[in-house]
Amino acid sequence: MIRSLSEPGRSVELPRPFAEMARLFAVQVRRPYRRGMSTHHPNPPAEQDSTESWNSRYGEVAQRWSGHANSALVDAVASLPPGNAMEVGCGEGADAIWLARRGWAVTALDISAVAVSRARAAAGGLPITWLVADLATEPPVGAFDLVSVQYPALRKGPDDAAVAAILNAVDLGGRLLVVGHNLAALRAHHRMPAGLDPDHYVLPDDIARRLGEGWAIEVHETRPRRQPPGYDGPDIPDDVLLARRC
Ligand SMILES: C[S@@+](CC[C@H](N)C(=O)[O-])C[C@H]1O[C@@H](n2cnc3c(N)ncnc32)[C@H](O)[C@@H]1O
Repeated sequence: MIRSLSEPGRSVELPRPFAEMARLFAVQVRRPYRRGMSTHHPNPPAEQDSTESWNSRYGEVAQRWSGHANSALVDAVASLPPGNAMEVGCGEGADAIWLARRGWAVTALDISAVAVSRARAAAGGLPITWLVADLATEPPVGAFDLVSVQYPALRKGPDDAAVAAILNAVDLGGRLLVVGHNLAALRAHHRMPAGLDPDHYVLPDDIARRLGEGWAIEVHETRPRRQPPGYDGPDIPDDVLLARRC
């Protein structure tokens, strides 16, 4: 079942994969998913992905994520020379902070002002540019050596604006890293909430399909995820896409 971790002095920290899925699709986070739950997957209402709904999800707890950088980011970027980076859907900022500490000039963007405010506080004096914006409608200006998109929860639109914004943000010679939970593993562990239709959200595979001429795919695979300390749920691997614009 989904487990929450409580520590003195702060509210509740939820293991990322299941908390994320549950929040996305308005499933109660402490309710275990059961075999035999509805397999009907209606298109969730757009309000579920609004700035208000994300603010509300963050506002339910004092800290939503682990505060540790995602392992796929660490593995992909540790050996790269620092440049300028954009963190899409930065949440509470752990990945942006990890990048900035390694010398990257980071622009971090999230639709939730609550998340960005926490991220800014966690970053202390690190020189990170924080943006509260909807990637699809207010894409950042500029081109980046690295665009990192970790567990994005970006709803697909008829014009694919979110995907276009992600691709456009990568500079010539720059890299795009997109990471998502492997859906087959979520299903195998019976962790797929009723109401989830992954077709409505941007997945690494969707972006890989969009990469034609002008892109070199360096990694496109499913690989184990190193879970943050305290996580004791099932191992759900990551789907990882790393591509270079050339
Ligand atoms: C599942 S969380 C992942 C957070 C962070 N990347 C991490 O790994 O901890 C998805 C994040 O994307 C943000 N988000 C959702 N839709 C967005 C949009 N259209 N534009 C920018 N951020 C968005 C949410 O507010 C949330 O912080």
